[in-house]
Amino acid sequence: AQQAERQRILDTLRLSRNQLLEVKERMNEEMARGLSKQTHEQASIKMLPTYVRSTPDGTEHGDFLALDLGGSSFRVLLVQVRSGTKSNVDMHHKIYSIPQETMQGTAEELFDHIVDCIADFLKYRDMRGVSLPLGFTFSFPCHQSKLDQGILLRWTKGFKASGCEGHDVVSLLKDNIIENEFDLNFVAVVNDTVGTMMTCSYEDPKCEVGLIVGTGTNACYMEEMHNIELVEGDSGLMCVNMEWGAFGEGGELDDFCTQFDRVVDACSSNPGKQRYEKMISGMYLGEIVRNVLLDFTAKGLLFRGKLSERLKTHGIFETKFLTQIEKDRLAMRQIRSILQHLGLTSSTCDDSVVVKEVCSVVARRAAQLCGAGLAAVIDKIRQNRNLNQLSITVGVDGTLYKTHPHFSSIMQETLQDLAPQCQVTFHKSEDGSGKGAALITAVACRIMTQDN
Ligand code: BG6
Ligand code: GLC
Repeated sequence: AQQAERQRILDTLRLSRNQLLEVKERMNEEMARGLSKQTHEQASIKMLPTYVRSTPDGTEHGDFLALDLGGSSFRVLLVQVRSGTKSNVDMHHKIYSIPQETMQGTAEELFDHIVDCIADFLKYRDMRGVSLPLGFTFSFPCHQSKLDQGILLRWTKGFKASGCEGHDVVSLLKDNIIENEFDLNFVAVVNDTVGTMMTCSYEDPKCEVGLIVGTGTNACYMEEMHNIELVEGDSGLMCVNMEWGAFGEGGELDDFCTQFDRVVDACSSNPGKQRYEKMISGMYLGEIVRNVLLDFTAKGLLFRGKLSERLKTHGIFETKFLTQIEKDRLAMRQIRSILQHLGLTSSTCDDSVVVKEVCSVVARRAAQLCGAGLAAVIDKIRQNRNLNQLSITVGVDGTLYKTHPHFSSIMQETLQDLAPQCQVTFHKSEDGSGKGAALITAVACRIMTQDN
């Protein structure tokens, strides 16, 4: 009876093929609404123009600085691009931490810290005094009206620094550079999806989609200019940063949400926002699992009904545990030791089986939802081009996608099932989106010199 009761609860987290098709359909509708001038304001996904229009052609060269802010680590990078052979890119980077207080403090504290890190990096590379073009990977929704400006629309993923929303992040950074300290020439503000797409398209020109499944989730793709009503001009393509994490804010996912999703949303730093992201990405999956385990325990279906203090703690179930627990070769004994590490000391072998199943159901739903969204994107590209069959590459990055043992295969299965007319290749980005930001900067610099 306990097993049946647990399955009844887990069934609420299982999606049928029809439900996934419905997700694809609604994503498709929201994309159209986000692109149209008339409905853009009300659309849940903002389909933001990026002003990235051309991919590298291999003739770019030079040294570039890149910043990469918004994922699990903050990086400053030096990217050296040599023209001619495409594989000729040298990268050096240093990772810096951003203390929680800084992430949630003021704009000045945050950007001051970033400037300190740049200064430290230049000193460390013995490059003080040089003047370099800079590409800024800033993985949050920004309104752009040109490449070198990005007005932060809202923070996501737990960032909260005050005084940033509504402001241009390039100006915020510039304001904090003390005169004569160093000389930077800001060329591009780039979302991580866009940087990832660029990193991959440098090696594979068929890469026209960028996907992130990490702390947060989002996608970008090359859209026809004539479909982007918010930007003048009708010819060629432009990359659109979808900000698909916000899907569901207009109620599009209400039919599929469970009580667990509602609790995770309500306890987050941005209730009501980023609903799709909260069902898919690394920052939230562990929380969904923890809430299911809490419910099971309260109903006497797990841990002999004993609620531990640790289990009641927000955030203790990190994504890395989710990934470890699902590794096929991991014996139940090892799962038990992970649970013990989490303070769940009185667990039995049966408990381990249940925990593993909960992790697997939550991750499967995430991968399927992500695949359904991607099916909408890829099918739209196919229809844009009036093709019966489309063959395309998606550049992907993000810790969850790269480390989870089943996420990518479930996502790809779903995609193939829901977009059967598309052959999709996935290209994992090994170099991060900082490289892509530098390449975008390099392309912009090449075009600037050509124009002069
Ligand atoms: C990295 C990118 O490789 O992937 C980051 O350079 C990006 O900018 C990240 O945000 C996403 O992954 P995660 O797991 O660090 O959020
Ligand atoms: C969040 C951000 C988005 C970013 C994504 C992945 O959804 O809003 O800009 O691309 O996380 O990092």
